[in-house]
Amino acid sequence: MSKIITVFGATGQQGGSVIRTILQDETLSKEFKIRGVSRDTSKPEAQVLLKQGVELVPADMNSKESLVKAIQGSHSVFLVTTPAWGFAGSDAELVHGKNVADVAKEAGVQHLIFSSLLDVTKESGGRLKHVPHFDQKAHVEQYIRSSGVPATFVLPGYFMNNYTSSGMLRKGDDDAYTLAYPVGKDAQFPLIDIAGDLGKFVAAALKNRSEVLGAQVFAAADYYTPTRILAEYEEVTGRKTRFVQVDIETYKSFMPRSMGEEMLENHLFIESPGYYKGQSLQESHALLEKAGFQTTTWKAYLERNKASL
Ligand SMILES: NC(=O)c1ccc[n+]([C@@H]2O[C@H](COP(=O)([O-])OP(=O)(O)OC[C@H]3O[C@@H](n4cnc5c(N)ncnc54)[C@H](OP(=O)(O)O)[C@@H]3O)[C@@H](O)[C@H]2O)c1
Repeated sequence: MSKIITVFGATGQQGGSVIRTILQDETLSKEFKIRGVSRDTSKPEAQVLLKQGVELVPADMNSKESLVKAIQGSHSVFLVTTPAWGFAGSDAELVHGKNVADVAKEAGVQHLIFSSLLDVTKESGGRLKHVPHFDQKAHVEQYIRSSGVPATFVLPGYFMNNYTSSGMLRKGDDDAYTLAYPVGKDAQFPLIDIAGDLGKFVAAALKNRSEVLGAQVFAAADYYTPTRILAEYEEVTGRKTRFVQVDIETYKSFMPRSMGEEMLENHLFIESPGYYKGQSLQESHALLEKAGFQTTTWKAYLERNKASL
């Protein structure tokens, strides 16, 4: 009989990637029956999954009660939490993560794979205290570790679609596309094609469970500097680009007030001590390759999405 994997965020980028990868994988598609979680199983994204044979369970991470039905009987769980942008001081992400961890423990889940990030406050020695969407994930990771639920922590890199879908590259009057950051052109960004590749790292963890219990897996194709990001963008698209290092106040003025400080400190952290504190991606890539997967490079991602850029 197939084992059940419950996938949170099934209608979103990360959970969707996990589901697609399992469905397309010859071994995992036979080994696992997928149960997707959504707060609204009638929404179109959820209905598409239903047609692909995914079981859908309505649940909200705010309610432990609703989580029981979603997690009960599951061998594995993929968990992604999302920040409550615009609600300063909210600890929603932490509460959501703890709720799922508690229910997973009660249900005897054998493998909880959590989409985690580093603790910016701790790793910056208290210099950068305003990046709760990193810190809260690190706190959830700690909570899961101390709960004793067998777990793996997959840390997604900086999304490639931040550049292509979020207006981060702005076209100027001279037709050049400008990337403006509060950090230098040599800062190291570990990039990931989130919808294409996150599922590959999770699938690799599922295929090598005993090897990755308690481990952190860095889900990124490579470290890219802004210089390389723009050079490869020019190469693929033929467009002109420009990098500008802006001062702190100018950078914050680019975004809603509630996000400015957080995004600023997030980027200062990427510059130093580093998104993954400068740790090598080699071990995570070896795990991926052993499972038969390869990462998508920034150039390949751009080639694939060229028509819609
Ligand atoms: N942008 C970056 O460069 C970057 C880098 C690393 C990590 N991240 C992190 O990535 C995360 C976003 O991942 P994503 O892009 O996959 O998100 P997404 O596409 O926005 O999807 C979020 C998913 O979470 C579900 N969800 C939200 N609140 C829920 C709740 N209360 N109960 C149950 N399900 C809930 C939604 O499902 P329903 O609406 O169907 O219920 C949806 O499927 C964020 O935490 C962000 O910090 C971002």
